[in-house]
Amino acid sequence: MQTSKRRILVTSALPYANGSIHLGHLLEHIQTDIWVRFQRLRGHECYSVCADDAHGTPVMLKAQELGITPEQMVEQTRTEHEKDLNDFLISYDNYYVTHSPENKAACELVYNKLNENGYISKRTISQLYDPEKEMFLPDRFVKGTCPNCGAEDQNGDNCDVCGATYSPTEVKNPRSVVSGATPILKDSEHFFFDLPQFEGMLKEWIRSGAIKNEMANKLEEWFEQGLQQWDISRDSPYFGFEIPNAPGKFFYVWVDAPVGYMASFKNYADKHGINDDEFWQKGNNTELYHFIGKDITYFHCLFWPAMLEGAGFRKPTGVNIHGFVTVNGAKMSKTRGTFIKASTYLEHLNPEYLRYYFASKLNDNVTDIDLNFEDFVQKVNADLVGKVVNIASRCAGFITKKFDAKLSENIENPSLLKEFQDAEQSIADAIENRQYHKAIRDIMTLADKANVYIDAQAPWVTIKDESKQVFTHDVCSLGIHLFRILMVYLTPVVPKLSESAQAFLNDQFTWESIQEVKIGHSINKFKAMLQRVDTDKVTAMVEASKEHLKATAEKKIAAPQTPSTTNAEAEEAKSTIEPIGDTISFEDFAKVDLRIAKIVHAEAVEKADKLLRLECDIGNETRQVFAGIKSAYKAEDLIGKHTVVVANLAPRKMRFGMSEGMVLAAGPGGQDLYILEPHSGASPGMRVK
Ligand code: MSP
Ligand code: ZN
Repeated sequence: MQTSKRRILVTSALPYANGSIHLGHLLEHIQTDIWVRFQRLRGHECYSVCADDAHGTPVMLKAQELGITPEQMVEQTRTEHEKDLNDFLISYDNYYVTHSPENKAACELVYNKLNENGYISKRTISQLYDPEKEMFLPDRFVKGTCPNCGAEDQNGDNCDVCGATYSPTEVKNPRSVVSGATPILKDSEHFFFDLPQFEGMLKEWIRSGAIKNEMANKLEEWFEQGLQQWDISRDSPYFGFEIPNAPGKFFYVWVDAPVGYMASFKNYADKHGINDDEFWQKGNNTELYHFIGKDITYFHCLFWPAMLEGAGFRKPTGVNIHGFVTVNGAKMSKTRGTFIKASTYLEHLNPEYLRYYFASKLNDNVTDIDLNFEDFVQKVNADLVGKVVNIASRCAGFITKKFDAKLSENIENPSLLKEFQDAEQSIADAIENRQYHKAIRDIMTLADKANVYIDAQAPWVTIKDESKQVFTHDVCSLGIHLFRILMVYLTPVVPKLSESAQAFLNDQFTWESIQEVKIGHSINKFKAMLQRVDTDKVTAMVEASKEHLKATAEKKIAAPQTPSTTNAEAEEAKSTIEPIGDTISFEDFAKVDLRIAKIVHAEAVEKADKLLRLECDIGNETRQVFAGIKSAYKAEDLIGKHTVVVANLAPRKMRFGMSEGMVLAAGPGGQDLYILEPHSGASPGMRVK
């Protein structure tokens, strides 16, 4: 047992204020919360804060679209987010918002220090500007023709069709997604943060134990590409904080967002007489941890530590990086109903089911975490209900009815009890190191042992034998002791269930109390603590998530000019049905030579986010085809599959080699892409007519 009291500040990434909390966010909040509750249960001084990330162009435009001020929108979203997180039993000390006076002051402080220390410079750059809307356009608000392959309607910085990445100024026939206008190039002075100055410090910091080596290796790749000056300013109109002494210039949202960690904690600390500076200044023996998803590693492991260092603050003790949630093996999808909002989940299911399930899968690396519904139902029912709660429900009745609700004075099997207590250190280590899946596995192994013990002693048989009353009392009492220890271990994971257990046991759990044995202790009447998961409710939740899509899709059709402001909405916008094209003659159609192909090899294309390289057997030859389907398919899953290829399409030279055909696929894009697959019997080379 740790004797010295640690002083710890923990954060989760700040969710954007323009969308709802969903299962993906929840993985992170649950991971953080289990760790935080564990530290508190161990008696450490552990604070946890989060906030909404309020600033930036998408929030500003979405508020305009809704006809409210950004401040109003942000406050509505913050309230909704805070409720969702509370309902999932996430125990932040403060859930604040980055659009706050504390954050404005903290940003100015950090910036002024960086400036005084010579890390800020100014330079004029040329950017695309929407002359109608009178604003500079972030990359994602520009669309146009791909400069590489000529595909129309591509994003401002990358092409879905050929996978090329480019600068928005290279896009052909560019248009502003905001107004439809043709953007012009316009000069503006920007502020830059001198990131390259921090290369040495960062290289050391990433090997200091703050992040896992696998991520440090990834970061090394970024160093190899060379660190760049970081553009930290945006021009008006922008929803954000104005840079001191620079009218019309605002901090880029990724500057004020991490500073928002400081501000959220300050807002709490000031109200509770805590000295928050001790968690940010160097040399106070406090610890600072950020829990984040892998997509925002760059910001938290390069920019943020550099900003902290440059402004004279301490750096994080650890940045804990997790992978992404997939559902039933695929990315969350609105059309499949697996893009599930926190509030939709809660309409159907108990939050502790998800907390337990995620805990049983979470580890300390960045592999994705799959929520498989079948496994989810099975695991929660078998483990929590069938194993853990079952121990109490089998033993409690006899104690209350026959033995005056008092546990016996004797320990029937001391070595079994000791085994449960001795597991403490390794379970604590597993949770401390974010190996929750290991902790859960160990806890469930113990639960199995408790059940085996009770089965073998069969108190429901011995209770009928007058001469075995003391024995029965001892057996059932030990069952309750074992249950109690399991529930202390599980407290950070399922805090509500733990509360019910504490009420039943007439007890208050601390981690230290694992070593105490409550002989002769009075307990309360056992009440059902947890219902089994009902598969129908899972189905209903998925259905409800699909319906939600229909409603928003309709809204989108009515407002086709709306820029997509979140990933989720981008998915929705794309899911509207495309109009049928102009009529063509049969002769025109017959010119297209479609062939059945067998994918004999598939692999990801390095440096292309969206491309898979396929080798397609089309009968008497094998064609290399680059397909923009990486977002929806794993290469290994395609090998051996049959599909349809356009065989007489002119070969196209791509950055990675020649593409000698095209694979047919349907769907709006992203993970919603479906390649065509013929009925069985079709073989390579057959013409599709
Ligand atoms: N606002 C920024 C973070 C600023 S922190 C100073 C942001 N917001 S976010 O809403 O897009 O994501 C918030 C967190 O949720 C991130 O850590 C992100 O990785 C995580 N997740 C979002 N979708 C996720 C999944 N599908 N799965 C797991 N985590 C995911 O980034
Ligand atoms: Zn292209």
